[in-house]
Amino acid sequence: MGATKSRLLGFTPRYPHFKAFKEVAPGFWNLRAPFFVLGGTLNIGTQMSIVELAPNAFAAIDCCPLTASAATELNELTSGGELLVAVLTTHPFHTKAIGTFHASYPSSAERKWYGCPRHLAKVTRDANDRPIDWAGDLNNCSVRRKFEPVLLMSIPDGAEFVNPVPPTRNHLSTVLVLHVPSKVVHVDDCINWIEGPGLLMRLAGFSDRTLHFHPSLTSVGLQPTQQAPLQFREWVRATLVDGWDFEHLVSAHNGVLIGNAKSKVAALLAKTDDTLRKLSIKNAQADAERRASAAWDGSASQAESQAGPASDVRCSDCWSDVDIDCG
Ligand SMILES: [Fe+2]
Repeated sequence: MGATKSRLLGFTPRYPHFKAFKEVAPGFWNLRAPFFVLGGTLNIGTQMSIVELAPNAFAAIDCCPLTASAATELNELTSGGELLVAVLTTHPFHTKAIGTFHASYPSSAERKWYGCPRHLAKVTRDANDRPIDWAGDLNNCSVRRKFEPVLLMSIPDGAEFVNPVPPTRNHLSTVLVLHVPSKVVHVDDCINWIEGPGLLMRLAGFSDRTLHFHPSLTSVGLQPTQQAPLQFREWVRATLVDGWDFEHLVSAHNGVLIGNAKSKVAALLAKTDDTLRKLSIKNAQADAERRASAAWDGSASQAESQAGPASDVRCSDCWSDVDIDCG
């Protein structure tokens, strides 16, 4: 997606010489970077975006390792980082590049960093061993609303955001961000637009140019309750299908969906509806069996206090069962 293609979309990139940061729509730039899992055998990619909040004010959404040319472009866009006033790290397990990015663009009174609860708890020093001064927790609704009306943020219902378990596979929840002026949604893991899948990905059922929910949706991603699948479905419908006005979607793994993104999300939800219905029924049955069994044994109150996931079957529901971080 270079300058020529962007012109075909109806606008001229503000920095047509940029090679690393691609302007998806006016005011929204996306950077792709390789990210390997499965012991370095599978490149699932990762991303960060830069959005224009106002004239001479930009925010970074997530962090990527910056090549020399990417750093040059980012510095040209933000006047050496002076105009980068905020950094939002949106996925609990996308942490690998936070330390190096903070070393180059540190938190300060002029540049506020906001992250997930897991980031605030675990990522406290940068690559230069300097402290990361987190200005706010994105689990806090008032923090997510800080950049309205330019940025809208939402966390999926029915999924665990603060402490997803098991950490190796439960990567469904994240903060989705809509940059309203450009009509671009930035999302890590929860929704994935697949482009140019390699052999392993194709064998796992990911065709070229297709949209998917994270594979953990049907195992450990949602709370193991009857309600969670319905809550997730209603959140997708209310937020993405009926709510936000967007045309494009950038996803960490592994591509940029240009045009018709909203209708593709609607089609994905419709295609997944029966799966979510069956998951809700399965969770309800498991819960009923647990309660009946506990009542029979006379340990109902103890069982209720210890109620946990209905199952945690090791399976091929994620791209990795050994890597915790995936971006
Ligand atoms: Fe990821």
